Amino acid sequence: MNEYIFFLGSNATLSTAEIFATLKRDGFEVDVDWADERVLLVNLDGELPANFLRGVGGVERIAEVIGKKDKMWSAEEVVDQLSPLPDKWRLGVSGVHIETRQLRGLGQKIKKAAGIAEGSKVRFVMPKGRNNQLNAAQVLFNRLYEKPHRELIFVNGGGRFWLAETVDVQRIDEYEVRDTQRPVRDGKIGMLPPKLAQIMLNLVPDLSSKAPVICDPFCGMGTVLQEGWLKNYRMVGSDIRDTMVAASEQNLEWLTRHFNVNKALEPDVFTHDIQAPYREERWNLAEAIVTEPFLGKPLSAPLSPTLADKLWEDIWPLYDALFRRGKEILLPNGYLVTVLPAVRVDYRGKMKWEFFPGSFVDSLSKKGYSWVQLVPEVSQYEYKGTERGSVFYARPDALVGREITLWQNNI
Ligand SMILES: C[S@@+](CC[C@H](N)C(=O)[O-])C[C@H]1O[C@@H](n2cnc3c(N)ncnc32)[C@H](O)[C@@H]1O
Repeated sequence: MNEYIFFLGSNATLSTAEIFATLKRDGFEVDVDWADERVLLVNLDGELPANFLRGVGGVERIAEVIGKKDKMWSAEEVVDQLSPLPDKWRLGVSGVHIETRQLRGLGQKIKKAAGIAEGSKVRFVMPKGRNNQLNAAQVLFNRLYEKPHRELIFVNGGGRFWLAETVDVQRIDEYEVRDTQRPVRDGKIGMLPPKLAQIMLNLVPDLSSKAPVICDPFCGMGTVLQEGWLKNYRMVGSDIRDTMVAASEQNLEWLTRHFNVNKALEPDVFTHDIQAPYREERWNLAEAIVTEPFLGKPLSAPLSPTLADKLWEDIWPLYDALFRRGKEILLPNGYLVTVLPAVRVDYRGKMKWEFFPGSFVDSLSKKGYSWVQLVPEVSQYEYKGTERGSVFYARPDALVGREITLWQNNI
């Protein structure tokens, strides 16, 4: 058994759903030891692949557990656990539910104890200001995820104390490059953040082959295609507008120059209106559809209840077509991961998130889809979901939010 600590992204529910689905696809048995909105501690029946973190969008850091006790660790116990120590190394300490002052004191004592016990020279890296956790940039800059250096993580989880060491940190800069440096961008169209596209791809529960075909029928500027290609999936993208198909192609060409992709798996992108039938050669093609359809025009203020009703009426046919035409391209038992928009509605000065009508969601079982629960269920922590059990993703001050849903195509 190996125990790992996953530091979750800003949406704990989505991050945990992504971790569970990815571990399951990788063939792991997962046993949750402790969980809350910041960290997920799991026992696995094997070692995590070295590149695991690069393949997931919702994990900020991964640490491997060294030991667990029912009281806080002393400096001598830590040094004992780490022994033999290198002659010269950098040490960072971070805590979860541990006070900054206690953590700093412990770090200094470890530094001293290491010197006394083994003559080891340690340069100590402190969390900034009042933080009890080093930021990703500090871990990356000081290479604390790589031997001989170390970032030690102390977690207080309901009176149990874990000692762990960081094995990998999210490369924020790479997401930033993939988000902002692509040649074609258009904020008005509403681009999916690459991290979220990666998470949505990872929510597909199982895939039968190593290079599955995955479709995005609203490909826009190609974010889902790009993230899927990086995972070595065979991506098929389409969009109603020729200009968007050209934008995807240009962005994908840029990707080949800046990231390592398998040219043999180059995405197939073409113009197609989702409301029209697919040509027969495209039927039963995809193991999954992963997409963000049109979310409505960008808003500058919350909608009135009447305008919200009008929005649902306007975009209903498009979403209906996604599920109807989805049946043509999806393989039997294939999965469909889609965003449904949610909008802020002003009810006489009281703002509320309004979700896509329940009658639409209910109609999908008649179309031959079954709803797959995304909100993880563990006894250690209650993850937040929407009333119907999907996951909601929105920035705090946003007017349009994203409801992430997962469906399975019944035979
Ligand atoms: C929200 S954008 C998708 C964003 C995309 N995921 C990205 O990151 O670039 C929605 C896309 O749906 C396309 N679209 C709208 N109506 C469509 C239809 N009937 N069939 C296919 N695509 C459509 C638009 O042209 C637009 O590019």
